[in-house]
Amino acid sequence: MKFFIDTASLDQIREAHALGVLDGVTTNPSLMAKEGISGEENVLKHYMDICAIVDGDVSAEVISTDLDGMVAEGEKLAALHPNIAVKVPMTRDGVKAIKHFTGKGIKTNCTLVFSAGQALLAAKAGATYVSPFIGRLDDVSTDGVRLIEQIRTIYDNYGMDTQVLAASIRHPMHIIQCAEVGADVATCPLSAILALFDHPLTTIGLEKFLADHRKAQKVR
Ligand code: E4P
Repeated sequence: MKFFIDTASLDQIREAHALGVLDGVTTNPSLMAKEGISGEENVLKHYMDICAIVDGDVSAEVISTDLDGMVAEGEKLAALHPNIAVKVPMTRDGVKAIKHFTGKGIKTNCTLVFSAGQALLAAKAGATYVSPFIGRLDDVSTDGVRLIEQIRTIYDNYGMDTQVLAASIRHPMHIIQCAEVGADVATCPLSAILALFDHPLTTIGLEKFLADHRKAQKVR
């Protein structure tokens, strides 16, 4: 399973990249706003900065909601770097835009997916990635991981090559559960990736190894 980081923070992207386990980045308009990135020029420059750090796909989301606007915006984003995947919302015009981008060889990420039917539509339009938001589903008492499992089954039934990108991940167990049910990618906050490193027995075990080593040095 690939690990993407879900942030527009260059510091966090650098930190995750330095771990050696980062395969890509997803952003969205809220994450860009959180970093104070505004104005077309700054937005485009920020995506270029991200692409310079990570050698993997970087999802850049369109703001337009109509087909013509999404196509114009997406083509501009895609022209920035070969690793850009144009992120498009799951709407009727969004699916038409994905079909258009697919025909032009432009990578896409269909976002705001909350049902298997929506995932099926995105794949039929040729989306590179589909992003089911599992945390937001859990928030409304619906099993987000179960949706990943359902989409995996459907795509496998028909040999659809759209990658299942589990999004809206909140904690390390989400990552593990997504890996168990066969998600292709998990896009995670840095905190969830870092939490995977931690186990008290690792900490205790390392302390004991080092203490024993120190004792042995004194005996000599
Ligand atoms: C996906 O690409 C989205 O950016 C993201 O995962 C949304 O997560 P949230 O529900 O934590 O906002």
